[in-house]
Amino acid sequence: MRIILAPMEGVVDYEMRDLLTRIGGYDRCVTEFVRVTEQILPNRVYYRFSPELKNGGMTPAGVPVYLQLLGGDAKYMGLNAARAQRLNPPGIDINFGCPSKTVNKSDGGSVLLKEPERVGAIVAAVRDAVDPSIPVTAKIRLGFSHKDFVAELAGRIVAAGANELCIHARTKVEGYKPPAYWSAVKQVTDSVDIPVIINGEIWNTEQARQAQKESGCTDVMLGRSALTCPDLALSIKADQQGEAYTMMTWPEVMEMLLVYLQNSENRHPRFVGNRSKQWLVFLQKRYPEASDLFQRVKRMKDAKEVFAEIDAYMKTI
Ligand SMILES: Cc1cc2nc3c(=O)[nH]c(=O)nc-3n(C[C@H](O)[C@H](O)[C@H](O)COP(=O)(O)O)c2cc1C
Repeated sequence: MRIILAPMEGVVDYEMRDLLTRIGGYDRCVTEFVRVTEQILPNRVYYRFSPELKNGGMTPAGVPVYLQLLGGDAKYMGLNAARAQRLNPPGIDINFGCPSKTVNKSDGGSVLLKEPERVGAIVAAVRDAVDPSIPVTAKIRLGFSHKDFVAELAGRIVAAGANELCIHARTKVEGYKPPAYWSAVKQVTDSVDIPVIINGEIWNTEQARQAQKESGCTDVMLGRSALTCPDLALSIKADQQGEAYTMMTWPEVMEMLLVYLQNSENRHPRFVGNRSKQWLVFLQKRYPEASDLFQRVKRMKDAKEVFAEIDAYMKTI
């Protein structure tokens, strides 16, 4: 099986991809979405979303990072893909899942799932614009307000030449509310001949197995759970090999948090505190100790203050 780290805008940034792929178990990452409108974006935008492009498109641990594009205009999606490929991304992913109102109002993301034909046209435009050696993948939800189009969507994406398809097993209207409907993906895996990746509500090894079984997919994508449980991918792989695995302890996770803080501080000092607080919120779900630390830092505004508090906390555990 392969495990893919989900794209998460404002959460899975360069530093997070670096950290999580160092821990291991991930076979691929995807950048936060690059919004494509009616212009060709300059290289610096692509480098901003994927600093890995300066490292052959790989995280420092050597895991490929696909560049994600979002937009409803097939022509400009193609033109931007053609521009981006000059920077040699290991693959290009197209976002048809984003539920954000702003994004959907401006004609991108999950609103396009209402129009399978357009989805096909966008994938075809990107596929035709880039060298066949560069994989083009698509990420969809089961639909916008219903699941009736999922087979047609998948069919059109495959016919347009996509190499792989990832399905977040919920509609846009279902948002992020459990459950995810893994079994609704089965009709797609049964009917297409490209790899289909199952995504949504996989929080532990049992759910990974169950999602595979119900969807018929071999590969899985982990989003929020990757933040909650930084070594989840390793534990899933061990489980599938029938090997025992001991999850990371809280002090080990804290060491990681400190590395994240240090790395982020150099890149975007204004956000460092917020991103670490955000990560603590995810961690609380698995590590109750994270709640205590979150309470201590949540009102702090200054990144340096957050950093000092975490540093002091580290000495007590
Ligand atoms: C904060 C946040 C940001 C996200 N940003 C993106 C994005 O940029 N591109 C995308 O395709 N999906 C995005 N997603 C969706 C995730 O990739 C994933 O499909 C979703 O969280 C379900 O998987 P999970 O249950 O494993 O978290 C985002 C989700 C969250 C919670």
